[in-house]
Amino acid sequence: MKTATLEEITNLCIRRGFFFPSGKIYGGLSGFYDYGPLGVELRNEILNSWWNFFVRNREDIVGIHGSILTHPKTWEASGHTESFIDIIVKCTRCSSEFRADHLLEDKGIKITELTIENLRNLIKKHNIKCPICKGELSDPEPFNLMFQTYVGPKKTKANIAYLRPETAQLIFTNFKNIYISMRLKLPFGVAQIGKAFRNEISPRNFLFRVREFEQMEIEYFVNPHKLNDCPLFNEVKDTKINLLTAKLQENSVEKTIEITIEDAYEKGLITTKWHAYWIGKSIEWMLKIGLDATKIRVREHMKNELAHYAIQTFDIEYYFPDMGWKEIEGISNRGDYDLSRHQKFSGKDLTILDNDKKVIPYVIEPSFGLERIILALLTSSYREIDNRKVLSLKPFIAPIKAGVYPLIKKPEFIEKAREVYYLLREKINVFYDESGSIGKRYARADEIGVPLGITIDGETLENNTVTVRFRDTKQQIRIKLDNLWEDIKKILEE
Ligand code: ATP
Ligand code: GLY
Repeated sequence: MKTATLEEITNLCIRRGFFFPSGKIYGGLSGFYDYGPLGVELRNEILNSWWNFFVRNREDIVGIHGSILTHPKTWEASGHTESFIDIIVKCTRCSSEFRADHLLEDKGIKITELTIENLRNLIKKHNIKCPICKGELSDPEPFNLMFQTYVGPKKTKANIAYLRPETAQLIFTNFKNIYISMRLKLPFGVAQIGKAFRNEISPRNFLFRVREFEQMEIEYFVNPHKLNDCPLFNEVKDTKINLLTAKLQENSVEKTIEITIEDAYEKGLITTKWHAYWIGKSIEWMLKIGLDATKIRVREHMKNELAHYAIQTFDIEYYFPDMGWKEIEGISNRGDYDLSRHQKFSGKDLTILDNDKKVIPYVIEPSFGLERIILALLTSSYREIDNRKVLSLKPFIAPIKAGVYPLIKKPEFIEKAREVYYLLREKINVFYDESGSIGKRYARADEIGVPLGITIDGETLENNTVTVRFRDTKQQIRIKLDNLWEDIKKILEE
């Protein structure tokens, strides 16, 4: 069984309508992709699964859907105006711009500290030149990643607003409204799915690093004195994770340790129980949608890479072809940084009562990126089985659930097949295809992950049965048309 390269995945996505480079007819807009007809269906299935798992099936989490254009004070308070930066270098000859740390990493140079001074020294020490024209590079400088615009016709400083670089802050600025209107009690969470925007210096690796993407975030609020009081811990305690601690990395060890969530907490590697819980739940959902457990690892941020708000952070990383281990979700203990800062900057009281005592809750934040999850799913599902290209997505995630095919193009076959197609279309996303040999039709469907093929043949006209073909095994079974929906419904829920 052969797995796919990133280039093959990119080609598949463009050729078969999952994603298109945005604005391609005008030469493209770097870092932006549009979801195509199959991409949007896949997107909806993943978002539904996430929302059901983390919001609808829980008593302690509610959702919101906040504005994309946001009040500038939000980002002063959150620290993004000051600290949400990457370090940029420019070529003094061809004017190309690069993220300094990426330039060094691409040359295999390890970065111990993400400071301007350290990057400047490394560029000098290794005599790094522009990778495009070999020109001299400028001095590294900070570059803020937030997109800025003006609200209303006036283009003055007072009218500046930002496209949110994370969805999280809308939860913090609405914190008191949500708490009061929903009559919540600690611990509780607020979830949000929505677009985030970052003016990445060098977008790359297809969907992995883009400038507009979708986040799925939870801010889980806990009494700061009860961070280890987690009544749900049993749900995750035996989950085994491959953990790369900050300490291992500081000693230049890349090898993970296999450990249960409970042991990682007991040994003080994950410092709070609620943080450990959210790492376990995140992995549970990732496995549910079909990510490969052997390609998941949990990497702790080293001190020098922690975000300005974070006390402790773990990235869930996935092993991608061509790229290696990369972050698909960050899970941070943000302490009371955000609520305290918004309280200070707004002058509004953001404390709440827990057992009659006023507290500013701590926050554990699982932050997933949809495009990276999709890329991880596609790279581990697209494979060659006996010379067939197959996208082995779980049926409940697959963008199209079934294809309906008349075996031959005769009116009585077509009529029956259309009947079956109409019957199923009311319930699931299904397509009808009569063009080309049946083998070619199956192959086209396998490549986009359609789990079931339903074929109307001579026997159908005699005894009202159809063949149902399974994508991964090519196995075929006969099912009575009267039972078709009941029988395939169970398969499609898997
Ligand atoms: P990286 O270090 O790779 O730039 P990050 O640490 O900036 O990522 P976070 O700030 O933790 O990422 O964002 C939370 C999640 O949002 C990430 O785990 C990722 O899934 C998603 N995300 C962040 N930036 C991008 C991007 N440019 N393109 C696609 N998804 C992104
Ligand atoms: N909300 C976490 C992040 O986007 O970085």
